[in-house]
Amino acid sequence: MNLNLNQIAHADCLEYLRGIPDESVDVTFADPPFNLKKKYNSYWDNLEVSQYVDWCHEWVRELVRVTKPTGSIFVHNIPKWLSYYCQVLNEIADFRHWIAWEATSTPLGKTLLPTHYGILFYAKDDSQLKFYDVRYPHHRCRKCNTLRKDYGGKKNRLHPFGPIVSDVWTDLHRIRHRTRRDRHPCQLPIPLMERIILMSTDEGDVVLDPFMGTGTTAVAAKRLGRNFMGTDIDPNYVQIATEHVESVQPTSKIGDAWVSLYLDQVATIRNTDWDELQNHFEVPEPVAAIDKISIVYRHGKLKAIEDAVYLEERKNLTQRELDLLDAENADSPHKPAKSVDIK
Ligand SMILES: C[S@@+](CC[C@H](N)C(=O)[O-])C[C@H]1O[C@@H](n2cnc3c(N)ncnc32)[C@H](O)[C@@H]1O
Repeated sequence: MNLNLNQIAHADCLEYLRGIPDESVDVTFADPPFNLKKKYNSYWDNLEVSQYVDWCHEWVRELVRVTKPTGSIFVHNIPKWLSYYCQVLNEIADFRHWIAWEATSTPLGKTLLPTHYGILFYAKDDSQLKFYDVRYPHHRCRKCNTLRKDYGGKKNRLHPFGPIVSDVWTDLHRIRHRTRRDRHPCQLPIPLMERIILMSTDEGDVVLDPFMGTGTTAVAAKRLGRNFMGTDIDPNYVQIATEHVESVQPTSKIGDAWVSLYLDQVATIRNTDWDELQNHFEVPEPVAAIDKISIVYRHGKLKAIEDAVYLEERKNLTQRELDLLDAENADSPHKPAKSVDIK
């Protein structure tokens, strides 16, 4: 089996993971099928609860086994399934966060409106964990540019770039589904993976994803100068992911600092990199003026993402569909990907 670094294997996740030595990768991330009866080519998405949970527990244990003592384990799913993952993870790893990623979906009857996906964040060993605080840009009113959040009398203590990322992520939008966009029905946004990678790894570290899908994890890792490895059971996805990753370069940098760039904006930076990064921005004086004036990148326009999947999807949309998507996304602090849905 192909366990090579910076390649995507075509294999079952358990078979693949069992070939990886103990404690050999820096970070593991998993975004499995959600068992929601979605139409997929290569596997059943409608297992009995106990079958699905047993299967998940098997690969969750493998993820923890292959992660280094300094490493993190992330798992993305709907809250219902994450609650089962915690049963195992609480025994073999150290809980850090339940990250709520805001995304509205359809009510299923007799429920509150589901408005977040969860990302479980566990440390292999809390006492040895590698972790970096990350920041996102201030949210501003689109019309008047004033900060959305009222910081009261503490404006002179505001960080010029933006707040520390909390465990509720409202600024990264899920990729929306359009009826004709079914080539990639489960793609996560690249800035989501880049945020995870920036907070948990260093340049050159290895990120493993056993459910690569369209290759979002690999693309984010490569763009940020990290290594990736992973697999998918569907040969079409392996091909799409391979093309996707080949279309990007390790260029997501400002000066010497790796950052998550999305379209023409910065989505996430590391707190420790601000000393270097601030040389590349005009920061208003006094800093309290940040309330009304944005920092400005000194070197013109930030380079747009070279994302083949994004560009291809846009190419296939009618002008009306493009307008609709742009209108839906107009209120985002970052312009989100304007292509397909996730689950
Ligand atoms: C939710 S999608 C992952 C999407 C991915 N995060 C992205 O952004 O494109 C789940 C993926 O798991 C794959 N999959 C399902 N069962 C699998 C198995 N037993 N082993 C490996 N991959 C599997 C599917 O083919 C699908 O691509």
